[in-house]
Amino acid sequence: METIEWGSLPFGYFKTDYNVRCYYRDGKWGELEITSSEYVTMHMAATCLHYGQEAFEGMKAFRGKDGKIRIFRWEENAKRINRSADGIMMAKVPDELFEQAVMTVLKMNLKFVPPYGTGASLYFRPLLIGTGPQVGVKPATEYMFMVFVGPVGPYFKEGFKPVCVQLLRDFDRAAPQGTGHIKVGGNYAASLYPAARAKEEGCSTVLFLDAKEKKYIDEAGPANFFGIKGNTYVTPESHTILPSITNKSLQVLAKEMGMNVEVRRVPVEELAEFDEVGACGTAAIISPIKKIHDRETGKMYEYCANGSAGPISTKLYNKLRAIQYGEEPDPHGWCTIVE
Ligand code: PLP
Ligand code: COI
Repeated sequence: METIEWGSLPFGYFKTDYNVRCYYRDGKWGELEITSSEYVTMHMAATCLHYGQEAFEGMKAFRGKDGKIRIFRWEENAKRINRSADGIMMAKVPDELFEQAVMTVLKMNLKFVPPYGTGASLYFRPLLIGTGPQVGVKPATEYMFMVFVGPVGPYFKEGFKPVCVQLLRDFDRAAPQGTGHIKVGGNYAASLYPAARAKEEGCSTVLFLDAKEKKYIDEAGPANFFGIKGNTYVTPESHTILPSITNKSLQVLAKEMGMNVEVRRVPVEELAEFDEVGACGTAAIISPIKKIHDRETGKMYEYCANGSAGPISTKLYNKLRAIQYGEEPDPHGWCTIVE
């Protein structure tokens, strides 16, 4: 194997040795299969191709200080993929199958788990797709569930250095009563153009507003938004936001640090009142935000006056990372220790 530059890995696809797959036919799931093929062959009328009947997950494993591998809160991803499955009428993935797939793909690719101290992690991408043919707009009767993995670095190349974000009003990622709360491909398709445009215009990602009134903060690109105001951690509540496992974990840590936590609608004007703001998610971890540029009004909200993340974001980031890398106790049992 070529040597891997663990410390400078981007967040991207990385070829590994194996992935795992399971097929749902005749109303039941078959046996889990291990394959080295990176390709999926399917019917040309598969519903995932035509009608977006697909959902995915993102989760990570970390090589700890003690050399052991910790998978972070995978049970929550197992629950969420089934909420996504329900939302777009796909077959659900039994928890035991999800667990078997995750553990098997990890064991088959142990050499791709980044060493402790590199800052990298092993990213899991569980994927559930409608593979059965339909031409009418109907759910498939056949599904494939697969999981592949790959070593990754942080989602934004800046890592824990603050990024610029573009607030926009001319695109939405999800409709008010749509699928924003589940992790289905269509939401991401809708975000591709505004995200690419924001990059061209010098920002790392976008800040979407609520699609109905354009008054409240919604998602921060592929991550949740949070703001710190004094001793309070504030994060938006909205039907169109994906319930982030990272965000929920940060809320617990914030409370344990003696902070108040508010999950509520966050009006755009409140951006001027936060001491610190950031994006959080499995891929994004905590990505501190230094500037939010309102594309329509030209208004600029600025944070991180000294150029680095604020003290509370830093404390939360360090605490979360310490639990994930086994440097500190894991009182909530968030990590499943594997090897
Ligand atoms: N919001 C969106 C749109 C996402 O794609 C993700 C990533 O999964 C998140 C938020 C963060 O969720 P989590 O912390 O569970 O990874
Ligand atoms: C994640 O944080 O795991 C995501 O899925 C976000 C993005 C890469 C789609």
